[in-house]
Amino acid sequence: MDFLNKPRYVPMNRRRRIYEGKAKILYEGPEPGTLIQHFKDDATAFNAKKHEVIDGKGVLNNRISEFVFTNLNAIGVPTHFIRRLNMREQLIREVEIIPLEIVVRNVAAGSLSKRLGLEEGMQLPRSIIEFYYKNDELDDPMVSEEHITAFGWATPQEIDDIMALAIRVNDFLSGLFLGAGIRLVDFKMECGRMWEGEMMRIVVADEISPDSCRLWDIKTNDKMDKDRFRRDMGGLVEAYQEVARRLGILIENERPHGSGPVLVK
Ligand SMILES: Nc1ncnc2c1ncn2[C@@H]1O[C@H](COP(=O)(O)OP(=O)(O)OP(=O)(O)O)[C@@H](O)[C@H]1O
Ligand SMILES: [Mg+2]
Repeated sequence: MDFLNKPRYVPMNRRRRIYEGKAKILYEGPEPGTLIQHFKDDATAFNAKKHEVIDGKGVLNNRISEFVFTNLNAIGVPTHFIRRLNMREQLIREVEIIPLEIVVRNVAAGSLSKRLGLEEGMQLPRSIIEFYYKNDELDDPMVSEEHITAFGWATPQEIDDIMALAIRVNDFLSGLFLGAGIRLVDFKMECGRMWEGEMMRIVVADEISPDSCRLWDIKTNDKMDKDRFRRDMGGLVEAYQEVARRLGILIENERPHGSGPVLVK
């Protein structure tokens, strides 16, 4: 009866789809408490008012996010990531997502520059953590710790845990990218509650990829992230590919699309 202990094989087309978002699909996983996170090629910005399919993006984000989460797990930062399954999918632990986008900024850019009139590229006096309420109808408004605790989205203790995680992730990512000749301007992360029996802990969830980070080439300040799409600059896949290559996770000349004939040497 060995087969009873093996995760049951579920054909792709019969998997139960739990949620389809703008960039990813979540399927029921092979075991209770697990999910399969599928990375689509869809790119959206300005709360999906701008939408495009960019061939190869999902494959790259799956790889880059796998790399980041594997390393976070290795340095003791808890995440939802278990393992990558294929070109577009990874096995993750199901968590109760805290309805906040946690943004950590090192350099002024984007909405911070706009709101406070800061020149893009200005080094901030110190890293700044911001919270946004995850609500598409409201365009993900910025909120303070007061709002978060008053409306019960997270407790004061959970906010402390989230901020400690955010600082550790920022320190790790900044060093990782610096070693690859890339400046981590800012990034967004999501956290979730993971239950282990009676115990609950906050873990890093969702994805960390050039879709959710601002990454600038250290020498030229060239953008290597989703701003290329937001600002109609083109060359998005090439930029993501370059990020992957510099992190040492893409073998030179590897086809990111996973389709078409492959030359057998
Ligand atoms: N481990 C996890 N367990 C449960 N849900 C998760 C987990 N990791 C990520 N999610 C959620 O899965 C969804 C991923 O899909 P996607 O990123 O495409 O959504 P989205 O369209 O950006 O919408 P959202 O505004 O909710 O992020 C997100 O809602 C995210 O919060
Ligand atoms: Mg999302």
